[in-house]
Amino acid sequence: MTKPSFKSGIAGSEITRLGLYLRRRELIKTGLAASIGFGLSGLLPYSAAAKDTADGFKTDEKLTPKDSVLTYNNFYEFGTGKSDPSSNSDKFKPRPWVVEVGGMVAKPAKFDIDDLIRKMQIEERVYRMRCVEAWSMVIPWQGFQLSELLKLVEPLGSAKYVSFETAVRPQEMPGISDVFPVIDWPYREGLRLDEAMNPLTLLATGLYGETLANQNGAPVRLVVPWKYGFKGIKSIIKITLTDQQPATAWNMQNASEYGFYANVNPAVDHPRWSQRTETRIGSGSFFSPDRRDTLPFNGYGEQVAQLYSGMNLTKNY
Ligand code: MTE
Repeated sequence: MTKPSFKSGIAGSEITRLGLYLRRRELIKTGLAASIGFGLSGLLPYSAAAKDTADGFKTDEKLTPKDSVLTYNNFYEFGTGKSDPSSNSDKFKPRPWVVEVGGMVAKPAKFDIDDLIRKMQIEERVYRMRCVEAWSMVIPWQGFQLSELLKLVEPLGSAKYVSFETAVRPQEMPGISDVFPVIDWPYREGLRLDEAMNPLTLLATGLYGETLANQNGAPVRLVVPWKYGFKGIKSIIKITLTDQQPATAWNMQNASEYGFYANVNPAVDHPRWSQRTETRIGSGSFFSPDRRDTLPFNGYGEQVAQLYSGMNLTKNY
């Protein structure tokens, strides 16, 4: 498997490898750790474990506290309030779980999520995440590159886009039955194929070293750190390659406010608020919030700006 070819000194990539950390977790899983005395180190706070980085990418930005990542969420299938996903998702069953990958591919396939996790090279990536609502977080994700999954199914030359769909399970997802649904279910998202193949684009299966919680999109969700958070579709059951730009949930809901591209862009305001600055969740205080400037492409411009050369990013918002 090829490693992502990041240029050195790119402040935005902030990629770390699990290295010793994952190996230690593997030992703990298999019960060997206790017998050779590593058991306690596996229980260290995450920040301590995360120092086991094998190579070069570092961030001096503080991780968003795990508690905030687990309780301040958008996942409308469980309700529209920020605490609804953590409060209302305990009935959701993320296993067994099958992801169907098809459309314009030579080898359509259905993957059991745990087979996929075993097959893929699971990496850790600490990404800044910027929500369209002008808040942000820094999250240590675990997952694999979407490109590695797409390579398995062999996209046809005619494929130009990738579309994604979330499960619709009214029995397990109380928000689906809202009388006035905000979203026309299923939640859908899409990327251009070159965006999907970019090494930054991740399918996340965990965060903070733990299996992804229901409220964060268990068992597998998309993470595209240079785009607004709504592109990060959760609990994916279907991935389809196509030659047409796919319909996306928020664009269908209000096309003038939510574009297909959704690249983080401080120069283009949301019609109802500015995108110039953001509030970092879990940092600062009520009286003195941690407010900072938003960066073009959320700071990942060196890796992705070339994908949009020649495009008018005000029109293609
Ligand atoms: N995926 C689904 N299926 N349903 C949703 O409502 N919300 C999106 C995105 N993915 C959403 C979704 C939005 S608006 C954001 S900001 C991110 O998930 C939030 O991810 P987090 O709660 O893990 O931070």
